[in-house]
Amino acid sequence: MTSLDSLDLDRLDPAGMHRRIAGLAADARRAHEAAAALDWAPRPRPLALAVAGMGGSAIAADLLRGYLEDQLEFPVGVVRDYDLPAWVGADCLLVASSYSGNTEETVAAYLEARRRGVPRVVLCSGGRLAALAAEDGVPRAAYPPGYPPRAALAWSFFTLLGVFVKLGLTGGREREVAGAAGLLERAAEEMGPVAAEAVNPAKQLARALHGRLPVVYSAARRIEPVALRWRQQINENAKTLAHHAAFPEHNHNEVVGWEQPAELLARAAVVVLRDSGDHSRVQRRFELAAPFAGAAGAGVHVVESRGGSLLERLCSLVVTGDWVSLYLSFLNGVDPTPVTKIDLLKNRLEQTGAA
Ligand code: PA5
Repeated sequence: MTSLDSLDLDRLDPAGMHRRIAGLAADARRAHEAAAALDWAPRPRPLALAVAGMGGSAIAADLLRGYLEDQLEFPVGVVRDYDLPAWVGADCLLVASSYSGNTEETVAAYLEARRRGVPRVVLCSGGRLAALAAEDGVPRAAYPPGYPPRAALAWSFFTLLGVFVKLGLTGGREREVAGAAGLLERAAEEMGPVAAEAVNPAKQLARALHGRLPVVYSAARRIEPVALRWRQQINENAKTLAHHAAFPEHNHNEVVGWEQPAELLARAAVVVLRDSGDHSRVQRRFELAAPFAGAAGAGVHVVESRGGSLLERLCSLVVTGDWVSLYLSFLNGVDPTPVTKIDLLKNRLEQTGAA
């Protein structure tokens, strides 16, 4: 059995994904400060906001929508594609979010916004989008270089929060951000590589997921983006297929599927992400529906959010998933950082010409 204690991190994780996860707290503080210093004041205020991005550069927008869902009287759409929907017009704002600045879907969405005369903001570390922003005189928030895009989550989340603050959609939230950074720091002590498996919930959960098909369930309201983040981190870090779905919609279709294929279901492991703010009926639905997975032979594991504010609770769930995906990569014997299939597809597409 592969030990998750006394890990040889130089061999298992040469690019240092564990340091990136442990560094989320510091990144959150730095990104929040940098966003406050953004020299940009949009006038007039747009009627709606579209965030164009893919993968690790899109998830921050979903998480932010979940975080601000109860107070945002303003439509925010996330566009994961080449084309913009018809509603994105000159009275909206397009935020093009791409860590590399070179993702062709995001660049295409930016160019489409330019054609339509949509005001734009660019969030990237460099690349084509940085050049386009400079050429067009479009404001840009620069991410620091050298991160795998998904590991720059604190940068993309808190920079986007800064854009929302500049738009007057929400206040500065200094206390909540400080609290969330503190929670991420404590999570690194509790779930980082130094904490032994016997007392480390992330190592224990990774062990339970190993060799199984992870299925992540959550409430749709506020928490579904976290379930998506778990799936994507398990995909990219642990090189593992995973699935996620949200309640209560799950109870109206997916629940029936816990019959076939029986052999596969018996090899699944369900993770239920729960939050104290979940609707009471959704909480009841979790209790009633989880046994169907258990009856099919799947393991069922509950992860409760921790912390006081919603931001802390969201961060606690996100960072737990990040640590779990890291340990799952070690158990799978794969390096968490490279995403060779993504790179291969991007290169092959580039060889076939521009979008
Ligand atoms: O995590 C990853 O590497 C991917 O999901 C990327 O974020 C995605 O391919 C988009 O690239 P970028 O973030 O550079 O726009």
